[in-house]
Amino acid sequence: MSELFSLKGKKGLIVGIANEGSIAYGCGKQLKSLGAEIAVTYLNEKAEKYVKPLADELDAKIFMPCNVQKEGELEAVFAEIEKQWGKLDFLIHSIAFASMDDLHGRLTDCSLDGFLMSMDVSCHSLLRMTKLAEPLMKDGGSIMSMTYLGSDRVIKNYNAMGPVKAALESSSRYLAAELAESNIRVNCISPGPLPTRAASGIKDFDELIDLACSKVPNYNSITIDDVGALSAFLVSDASKALSGYVYYVDGGFSTYG
Ligand SMILES: NC(=O)c1ccc[n+]([C@@H]2O[C@H](COP(=O)([O-])OP(=O)(O)OC[C@H]3O[C@@H](n4cnc5c(N)ncnc54)[C@H](O)[C@@H]3O)[C@@H](O)[C@H]2O)c1
Repeated sequence: MSELFSLKGKKGLIVGIANEGSIAYGCGKQLKSLGAEIAVTYLNEKAEKYVKPLADELDAKIFMPCNVQKEGELEAVFAEIEKQWGKLDFLIHSIAFASMDDLHGRLTDCSLDGFLMSMDVSCHSLLRMTKLAEPLMKDGGSIMSMTYLGSDRVIKNYNAMGPVKAALESSSRYLAAELAESNIRVNCISPGPLPTRAASGIKDFDELIDLACSKVPNYNSITIDDVGALSAFLVSDASKALSGYVYYVDGGFSTYG
């Protein structure tokens, strides 16, 4: 990877690494290669053994459990960041969850409990993280989350995640407006379909990749590293004019009819 700009001195938290296919790991690799210091979380004890070697590779000095639904875990991560770093420059929210019933069933049939759980993990957690990050972003900062085109268009089999991602994008715009005076920027990245573990929960996910490949030449060459490259730019001061938007990393797929 060639050096586009330096992120030396920047310190940030990445939430959402499950394995080496995770979009969050693609972000971590690019950020580290440009000199950023990274804190990494893992979902639970079961996930720890898969995430630990990746966190070590990223030189993460802060490595803690964080299930956003477990009371106190998110707060503990930010408390450790305050203790060790005393500040935060960036935050990457790369998590989402929907139960298989809700993901595979019609939105019409989505239960209240299922909808609330998905909203909690995939959207409201961004608000909670932002609230905890704000006082630590003393010199300003960059916050980003991962969304998907299914927020805006009806994508086959995306079902309950569609409205949840729409809420994530809208929340991101409001957060961007509210935090602008603190020089904190909030953006969404919208990758095209990439074969990750979360994606494997979407029915006939390969068809989404095939569709993208049928429209975008060389779509297969797009990887988590490309998402990571954009995340690095959004962390850098070079992107100081960018806030409140959704940026697609899909080779232009979302522009096709
Ligand atoms: N893969 C794609 O095609 C694609 C496209 C657009 C957007 N996205 C988004 O990218 C983000 C990352 O997903 P991914 O594709 O890298 O898959 P992934 O499975 O590697 O990552 C999903 C992460 O969510 C975490 N997570 C789930 N529930 C959690 C909870 N309660 N608390 C904390 N973490 C929790 C998992 O531990 C995992 O690390 C998601 O928001 C996803 O919707 C993915």
